Amino acid sequence: MISLKFRRYLVIAICLLCTAACYVFYKWMDFDANPIRHYLAYDYYFGSPLMSSSYSQVNVSSSVHTATEASSPSPQTVFSLGGKPVLVLFSARFDFQLGLIVLVGYFNNRLSKQPPRVTCRLSSLKSSTNLDARPWQQAVGYSMHEGHYMPYDGVLYFCPVVPTESSYLVEVNGVDVSNRASGKIKLPVHVAESSKPADKVAACITALRYLPSEESENQFIMRLVEFIEVNRLLGVEHFYFYNMSLPSKISAVMKHYIGIGWITVTPWSLAEGIDLDKDIHYYGQMVILNDCLYSARDRYRLLTFIDIDEMLVPTNSKGEAINLVKAAQLHSLDDRGGNCALGFRHGVFPPSPKQEKSGEIKMPTSLIGCKIVSLLRRRRIKSILPFTERSKLLVVARQIKEIGIHFVWNSWQSCQTKQLSPSSEGLLHHYRHWAAGEMIEDQSMKWLQRDIETALIGARDRLKHLFGIDLCA
Ligand SMILES: *[C@@H]1O[C@H](CO)[C@@H](O)[C@H](O)[C@H]1NC(C)=O
Ligand SMILES: *[C@@H]1O[C@H](CO)[C@@H](O)[C@H](O)[C@H]1NC(C)=O
Repeated sequence: MISLKFRRYLVIAICLLCTAACYVFYKWMDFDANPIRHYLAYDYYFGSPLMSSSYSQVNVSSSVHTATEASSPSPQTVFSLGGKPVLVLFSARFDFQLGLIVLVGYFNNRLSKQPPRVTCRLSSLKSSTNLDARPWQQAVGYSMHEGHYMPYDGVLYFCPVVPTESSYLVEVNGVDVSNRASGKIKLPVHVAESSKPADKVAACITALRYLPSEESENQFIMRLVEFIEVNRLLGVEHFYFYNMSLPSKISAVMKHYIGIGWITVTPWSLAEGIDLDKDIHYYGQMVILNDCLYSARDRYRLLTFIDIDEMLVPTNSKGEAINLVKAAQLHSLDDRGGNCALGFRHGVFPPSPKQEKSGEIKMPTSLIGCKIVSLLRRRRIKSILPFTERSKLLVVARQIKEIGIHFVWNSWQSCQTKQLSPSSEGLLHHYRHWAAGEMIEDQSMKWLQRDIETALIGARDRLKHLFGIDLCA
């Protein structure tokens, strides 16, 4: 017979072993594949390390930075700790729907899991002496998800003040978790001209970078132009890009599209002291997408969040591509509750040089040699990933509080994402390399073939004429 004492130790030992096993299992799981799992497991059960010992190094940035150009927000640090920013605010906008100012930025989560407390107030752009400064208000901080264990998380602040005209600044007073350091900055408040969003679609695209090691500038321009032109045919009215680094030739083409009103390009760079690769996930993707959400929703009711090698292709029951606005009606996207998003599952169209060169797909003479993937790639990998794995969304912007990369994290009132059937309702087309797999025909883009040809012949002529760039060389 085992003694009572021994049995007690045995139970404790088993518990400890289980805990260790759980931890190993947790590390082994790829939580990145499913951020909901990642979020629940990590944030609730493990928390983040609170480095209270670092407070001795607090170095209060006393300089009050005033941005003067209201149209171009630039990153500004509220205060730093040993050379590392604690909180960076990127933009301030008055939101008509909420009736308050929304601030977008990122904060260092190693000091506190919660965003630093900040207070805010309006001050006039004209007076540098703050004579008409209002009383300070407490802003409500909201930490974004999908930080991927990195030191910086995106943050939204809701500042309960109402600017009466756009010539206001919002003054932000940041106080760190232990209330021992603070800094102050001013940000120009952007106030949109209109508060009535059109029933149209805009696309938000994460940080745009050109990597010379991967392709030529012409190849990049070809991809970009096809992305813009074909998505327009699918119903995307406007595109919001965030420019991290683009050479002058690519910028010239983008400026052309800015000129005709199809795209908006916002400069994007991370604050000094932030390591591009180690400090924040994917160059601040969550910050960018949520900045775009709050920026675009004044003008567009519907938003998509995609990359430049992706297209959301809604289809009818015959499998023919239809317009995104029509798809939103068809699936009853709603402004209050109900369906607030459509989920498009991920389908891949990898390069197939043989088919592309075979002449199997007839192209008009003026497009021969052009790598138009939406026309040339008619075969895709048969298996389609489950919803949330690489899937993308079309959302009713005013319903969303926090957008994730593959799903809605938070909405203002409870609402659902309708998952589309890939065979009869719509699919995310992703044009990229992929591991070999069984391929099947996908003819959904055939219904847009003539329109795509016309649009790209036009774009090719225009760019040749304006810049001497041949898209198809
Ligand atoms: C504190 O700030 C001063 C002035 O900005 C700077 O010279 C100094 O290096 C900073 N110290 C630390 C520990 O960051
Ligand atoms: C993108 O940013 C670079 C600087 O990083 C700038 O030279 C270029 O003109 C910008 N392009 C556009 C289209 O805004």
